Amino acid sequence: MNPTPKIADYVYDVVIIGSGAAGLTAALQLGPETSVAVLSKGGIEGGSTEWAQGGIAAVIAEDDSVASHIEDTINAGAGLCDPDAVRFIVENGADAIRQLDALGVEFTREAGAEGNSGYHLTREGGHSYRRIVHAADATGQEVEHTLSGQVRARQNIEILEHFTAIDLISEPAPDGTKRCTGFYALDQRQSRVVTFAARNVVLATGGASKVYLYTSNPDGNSGDGMAMAWRAGCRLANMEFTQFHPTCLFHPQAKSFLITEAVRGEGGRLVLPDGTPFAEDFDARAELAPRDIVARAIDHEMKRLGIDSVYLDISHKSADFIVGHFPMVYARCLRFGFDMTKEPIPVVPAAHYSCGGVMTDLDGKTDLVGLYAVGEVAYTGLHGANRMASNSLLECIVLATAAGMDIAASINRIDLPAPLKDWDESWVRDSDEEIVVSHNWDEIRRFMWDYVGIVRTSKRLQRAQNRVQLLSSEIMDYYANFRVTNNLLELRNLAIVADLIIRSAMQRKESRGIHYTLDYPEPDTSRPPQPTILAPEARH
Ligand code: FAD
Ligand code: SIN
Repeated sequence: MNPTPKIADYVYDVVIIGSGAAGLTAALQLGPETSVAVLSKGGIEGGSTEWAQGGIAAVIAEDDSVASHIEDTINAGAGLCDPDAVRFIVENGADAIRQLDALGVEFTREAGAEGNSGYHLTREGGHSYRRIVHAADATGQEVEHTLSGQVRARQNIEILEHFTAIDLISEPAPDGTKRCTGFYALDQRQSRVVTFAARNVVLATGGASKVYLYTSNPDGNSGDGMAMAWRAGCRLANMEFTQFHPTCLFHPQAKSFLITEAVRGEGGRLVLPDGTPFAEDFDARAELAPRDIVARAIDHEMKRLGIDSVYLDISHKSADFIVGHFPMVYARCLRFGFDMTKEPIPVVPAAHYSCGGVMTDLDGKTDLVGLYAVGEVAYTGLHGANRMASNSLLECIVLATAAGMDIAASINRIDLPAPLKDWDESWVRDSDEEIVVSHNWDEIRRFMWDYVGIVRTSKRLQRAQNRVQLLSSEIMDYYANFRVTNNLLELRNLAIVADLIIRSAMQRKESRGIHYTLDYPEPDTSRPPQPTILAPEARH
């Protein structure tokens, strides 16, 4: 009797690529009878979630309302949000907080805040009410550690760290469509490419802000899931909308460390080097206007005055208040020589969040059957042309819960795939010029910052496109000839994401939300606002 052929190196019911808030939340929806792997290309806590500061937006306060949260989200999104997605996510906000609370997340509480279910609620840009639930100024760490602790305790879930997913595998389905059946991944510790087979695959790979020179994001945010989905034939939307966070610490060693918007929510003022406040000159909401407006105001003042940074000043509040509310930010600033209880701190905008991504429905389903996408990698329509503060973690929890439940309800009806083809590296050799990879990384990130940043023009976008096309062909040549490494895989993905961002920006002949171009400085009012959808047929 012939032995059963091996399906793949690793076989699970569900594989989730990414171990941030979205990936871990999806994993926790799957019952003990479902075998699950959660992959991370670094350690389990290596994504943006671990770094999140401000909190999670949800309608908790008695005087707040779902209608107000919806309205604020749509206003911040500059008319480009999908109203159904906004309603679904906002309506499920309070449940998401209860769900995290029940798992053990310790949010900051406030004596006498019965009307807020006992939570201390802070305020951030664009929100009409105090509605940000938080764990001091390290909300992400508290959420990530709680979720990862829960996942570790589940017998049916295996955590695989230092595995980099490379490319999705699909096979034709009987109805003529294609079904995702697994993917290739680099096992970094063995320097070996392995196959994963699954009934369902979930992309939870986070965003792509690493495509810019200055970013608040961890190093791994190279848009891998977006590039993988694109190569597999999925549509992506609104890629031109990379959000720039207004306030990252300006210091050569700080790597754009984020200064949470909650500092402005609790009274921090943006000032010029001579101490003059300026945010109100740009919007009546001043420091608490949506992020695109505040980031552009700072960019404008820096260019007008030829200065390296502006300043954020909360030193008028008591030291107890500042250290009590912002212990992590305070300690980090002090390490760089700035005492925020006594002086203004220098801040600049930096790339922070990908509002666009892989198109999904409200169960996280993508265009490819069997493939889901949740979290920052996905485009659900919630954020429109500009994400409102603290709506991202909310989206991660709500959508990953919906996706996990959808998978749980259908998994028994899906067969495991036929054996997957092994990765073929018979024609490649070890790279003798690894330095080329880091040069190309630097080049992409620099021209994206210079030409596709806070203020754009058609000419700058064209320049960026010329450069990305040249680099992409060099990178593909390199990829075809050399054994893959984590750096090379990220570079290949960054080049694709950069190209998609530039192409989307070139298609949008107006200024809207984050996308601001001097050639079309106003929104196009001649037709209803449309998302920019890039379909695989339009690939060049
Ligand atoms: P992430 O948490 O980024 O996780 C991505 C995961 O994918 C990681 O495990 C990574 O290793 C893995 N991965 C990526 N590529 C691969 C691959 N090829 N193979 C295998 N694994 C891969 N939002 C809010 O709502 N509130 C906040 O207060 C807030 N503060 C923020 C502060 C900072 C400094 C930053 C950077 C972001 C902040 N955001 C905030 C945004 C929010 O944190 C993120 O959008 C959210 O955490 C994304 O979660 P995620 O699960 O989608 O991805
Ligand atoms: C912050 O704390 O300012 C970040 C919040 C967010 O990105 O939503």
